[in-house]
Amino acid sequence: MLIGIDLGTSTCKIIAVDADGAVVAKASRDYPMINLRPGWAEQEPHLWWSATDEAMTELAASLPGKGAEVRGIGLCGQMHGLTALDADDEVIRPAILWNDQRAAPQCDALTERAGGLEELLRMTRNRMLPGFTGGKILWLREHEPEHYERMASLLNPKDYLRLRMTGRHVTEVSDASGTGLFDVERRQWSEELLEIADIDLSLLPEVVESTEVTGTLLPELARRWGLPEGTPVVGGGGDAVIQTTAMGLIDEGEAGFTIGTAGIVAGGLTRCPDNPGGRVQVSCGNEPGRWHIMGVSLSAGGALQWLRDSLSRLDTQHPFTFDRLVEAAQEVEPGSRGLLFLPYLLGERSPHVAPDATACLVGLSQFHHVGHIARAVVEGVLMNMREILEICVAAGLQTDRIVASGGATNHPMWLQTLADVLNREVVTATGATEGGAYGAALAAGVGAGVWPDLPTALGRLQVEQTLTPNPAAAEQYERTFAAHRRLHEAQQEVRE
Ligand code: XUL
Repeated sequence: MLIGIDLGTSTCKIIAVDADGAVVAKASRDYPMINLRPGWAEQEPHLWWSATDEAMTELAASLPGKGAEVRGIGLCGQMHGLTALDADDEVIRPAILWNDQRAAPQCDALTERAGGLEELLRMTRNRMLPGFTGGKILWLREHEPEHYERMASLLNPKDYLRLRMTGRHVTEVSDASGTGLFDVERRQWSEELLEIADIDLSLLPEVVESTEVTGTLLPELARRWGLPEGTPVVGGGGDAVIQTTAMGLIDEGEAGFTIGTAGIVAGGLTRCPDNPGGRVQVSCGNEPGRWHIMGVSLSAGGALQWLRDSLSRLDTQHPFTFDRLVEAAQEVEPGSRGLLFLPYLLGERSPHVAPDATACLVGLSQFHHVGHIARAVVEGVLMNMREILEICVAAGLQTDRIVASGGATNHPMWLQTLADVLNREVVTATGATEGGAYGAALAAGVGAGVWPDLPTALGRLQVEQTLTPNPAAAEQYERTFAAHRRLHEAQQEVRE
């Protein structure tokens, strides 16, 4: 039995997987996000820990043998968060999350100090995006010097759980890539960039491969959760990377579309791509000798959630459901009668690096109703992801097959619209619905010696459903896409 823990943005989800790769138990707990100002997003690490502890206690009690058969734990979680700790490993301030845009000026300043974008890309293969950890460290130094001075170490969110579980400060290569301070090609911290940024290497954790053992569960936790003494805790991965692995997309040739709160277009590579112009995110893959390429849109399913929450304010006794909105959207013809939507409710990271971008709904007439708006939101989100796909392909992603996953893909309307917008066959895969937690459990299995490597653990991609494009809708979307592309540009002109 293997445990995969996924420390998400709103929920800690834990699953248990048996030696055949089947999910046998699940438990989860939620925690809130703190938004003190527009563009800021923080969370309390002690709530991550209490959620994990409670969900783990519940899960272990429900396992056959009450946890005695657990052979390993793998960790996965939201990437890029800054968890600042003092010399006693006390949390100094709430963690600053992946979707927090406050550090944009620090990212620009660091890029300049590094000698420009090309130089930065040579050192790390990544642009220093505002969501990345590196800029947040510099923000802390500038805006909260007393906290910066007190900081003795920093960790990504899932690695804070590892510290609580094993007492060790360790991360793994995929999450380290998302700090922007990591030399992704060489799979080590970029000492060159750290020196330019004047960030002491001693603040950063040790880095291992995703399938390596990072420590063993502390005896008091093993007792409390009823797990074997010395249970190994394995590296795991940053969620956006390891969920691609969990979809079975390790080899080249398949592109994953994950539509959750954020929208991720991603795939695996067997060489480290150059990333000209820094238009994609490049990470180490979850196995040595493999890399991962992705573009992340900050509002995908999140855009429809925003619409649902806005409508629910009208009648708090009867909140709107996601399903009702999707149903209303389904009744409207493809193209939403000319309504266009750009989903930049939180600014955007890809296809445009535009932390200040805003969303828009264009082309409203008296004829349109809420169903058209809901459909335009879905279409706008997917058009945006099509633009990301084009950028990933230009950077080396191969797309013999498109595989969809994520919460939104439980709705046939989202899936069919994706096939129509891309004018490509789209498949869903078994196991993909469990996302990063599944990948983390498999990584734990490799670390604990249950499987020799991740491809063996995963087997081949197992197709569940196949969606083929509807020619009339695809033709309509071809026209909409051309207009969609120009919209961001036009909106930028108005804002400037
Ligand atoms: C990836 C990213 C998100 C977060 C939250 O670059 O920002 O996927 O990891 O899930």
